[in-house]
Amino acid sequence: MADPRPIGVFDSGVGGLTVARALMDLLPDEQIVYLGDTARGPYGPLPQPTVRDYTRQDVDWLITRDVKMVVAACNTATAAALEVDPLRFDRPVVGVIEPAVETAIRATRSRRVGVIGTEGTITSRSYDRAVARIGGEATKLFSQACPRFVTLVEEGRTTDPEVLEVARAYLAPLVAAQVDTLILGCTHYPLLTGVISYVMGPDVVLVSSAETCARSVFAQLIDHRLLAHHAGSTPGTVDHRFASTGDPATFARLARRFLGPRLSDSEVLAASDVATSS
Ligand code: DGL
Repeated sequence: MADPRPIGVFDSGVGGLTVARALMDLLPDEQIVYLGDTARGPYGPLPQPTVRDYTRQDVDWLITRDVKMVVAACNTATAAALEVDPLRFDRPVVGVIEPAVETAIRATRSRRVGVIGTEGTITSRSYDRAVARIGGEATKLFSQACPRFVTLVEEGRTTDPEVLEVARAYLAPLVAAQVDTLILGCTHYPLLTGVISYVMGPDVVLVSSAETCARSVFAQLIDHRLLAHHAGSTPGTVDHRFASTGDPATFARLARRFLGPRLSDSEVLAASDVATSS
């Protein structure tokens, strides 16, 4: 049985589009309904009870869109709501923390793992609890809040000298702690993979919570028999829906940075002469 209903994805703003993008890559036949709470985000600096309330409202909005699964594509929301008081909902709800921790625990050799995220995510200690639960006491977690990273990414700044300087300052304690695996515990950080990897060094494995979440969604769709496409059917053109609680034009402008360049048909040249050109 195929289930054509969309997957609901929400975030405090545009950051969760890194998760949506990973989902589109892994699951091209799935329709996504994306909600970005740009009017009330960012969630990182907000008190936990406020984030919990907003998260419940975001999930409720998605449920009214008849989604088959909800993806909390926001570390701060996952930390404040899902990890503390799992939402009662008759369909699967997938967050970003557990899948990232499971991957990090498998990747680490030294059992010294780092995590970086917003103030809200780090102070909630949700990653600490997940590491203790999944990795046991033998795994040591070193946490660092990196709030400036969010504004830098939203300003489109991922390579300039100030970004490198900020990254060096934030990551110095994790370099000193000699972690061999670092969880990018915030939706925005995959866009800073270059500078984070440069500062941490090539031996440190970076775990993107966006990618690991997408892999978990893939597995859960199969396990719950919720895939949209099944063998023998013809995949159609998927029409994703994006909604923003704030100004749609601002959302669209920032969204392009996170969703990546999407080619339009007219930009693709016909290279019919390749076989005859040598
Ligand atoms: N989406 C948030 C997260 O992954 C980052 C932006 C915010 O502070 O809301 O934690």
